[in-house]
Amino acid sequence: MIPIGVFDSGYGGLTVLREIRRHLPEYDYLYLGDNARAPYGPRSFERVYEFTLQAVRRLFDMGCPLVILACNTASAKALRTIQQRDLPHLFPPAAGETLPSRRVLGVIRPTAEVVGSLTHTRHIGIVATQGTVSSRTYELEIAKLSPDVVVTAQACPMWVPLVENHEFDSQGADFFVQRDIQRLMQADPLIDTIILGCTHFPLLLNKVRAYAPAHVRLISQGEYVARSLGDYLHRHPAIDQPLTRGSSVRYLTTEQPASFSAAATIFVGQPVEAEHIDL
Ligand code: DGL
Repeated sequence: MIPIGVFDSGYGGLTVLREIRRHLPEYDYLYLGDNARAPYGPRSFERVYEFTLQAVRRLFDMGCPLVILACNTASAKALRTIQQRDLPHLFPPAAGETLPSRRVLGVIRPTAEVVGSLTHTRHIGIVATQGTVSSRTYELEIAKLSPDVVVTAQACPMWVPLVENHEFDSQGADFFVQRDIQRLMQADPLIDTIILGCTHFPLLLNKVRAYAPAHVRLISQGEYVARSLGDYLHRHPAIDQPLTRGSSVRYLTTEQPASFSAAATIFVGQPVEAEHIDL
C-alpha cells in the first residue's frame, strides 16, 4: 500500500483529514498524531522541527511518498526547513525530476491563497497557537499574495488544551473563546474574516460563532487544504500515480491507542481504531 501521510501533534489534523477524504475519497491515508508530546504550540522552533522531522521520516519509512503537515504550528516552524534543507539531501530528485522524491506540504499556504478573495474590508484576523502567531508565517505568506490585506493575529494558548481535553463544549471554553475573540476584534474592529489558523479550532467553531460579530466570516482550513492537495496531485503525476486507491485510513498515535480511538471517534464522527507507535 502507498498511502498519503497526514501528521498533527494530536487530534486537530483529523479535521483536515476529514475534508481531504471528502474531496479525495479514493486514496489510502496514514494518520499520525504525536499526542504524547502535544501540544506543540508553546514549544520552541528547535523542538517542533525535531519532532516534526521524526514524524515525517517515520511516515516516509512506512511507505508514504507525500506527507501533509495538518498542523499550523508544524507548518509554521518546521515545513520550510524540511522542504529546503532536509528533503533535497535525504531524497534527491529522481532522474528527469527537479523536486525531491518525497514531498511534504503544509496548511498555511493553501489558506493564505484564499483569504484575499474572501475579505471585503481587507482586514482579516487569525486565531492560532502562540507558536504560529510568533512565527508570523501567516503575515508573510499573505503579504506575498495579497499585500493590501491587513492581518491581525491573536494567540489563543488555551484553545488546544481545551480541545485535547474534550472541554470544547464546556463553560471554560466559553470564557477563553469570548475573551480571545474580543481581544482580536478590539485590536482591529474592521476585521470581516477570521481564519481558524489551528487545525484543532474547528471543534470550537460554535463558540467562535457565538462570540464573533455576526457579519464576520469564519474560515476553517480543511476544505481549502483538500482542494489544494487535489490540485497538487493533478500537477505532480510522479507523486500521484504510485499512490494506491483503496479508500482506507489507518490511525497511529504516540499515546495510548484506546484514548486516541475514543477521542478521534468524536472528531471523525465514525468509530476509529488506533495503533500505538513510538517515534
Ligand atoms: N493543531 C495544531 C495547529 O494547527 C496545534 C496543536 C498544538 O499546539 O499542538 O497549530
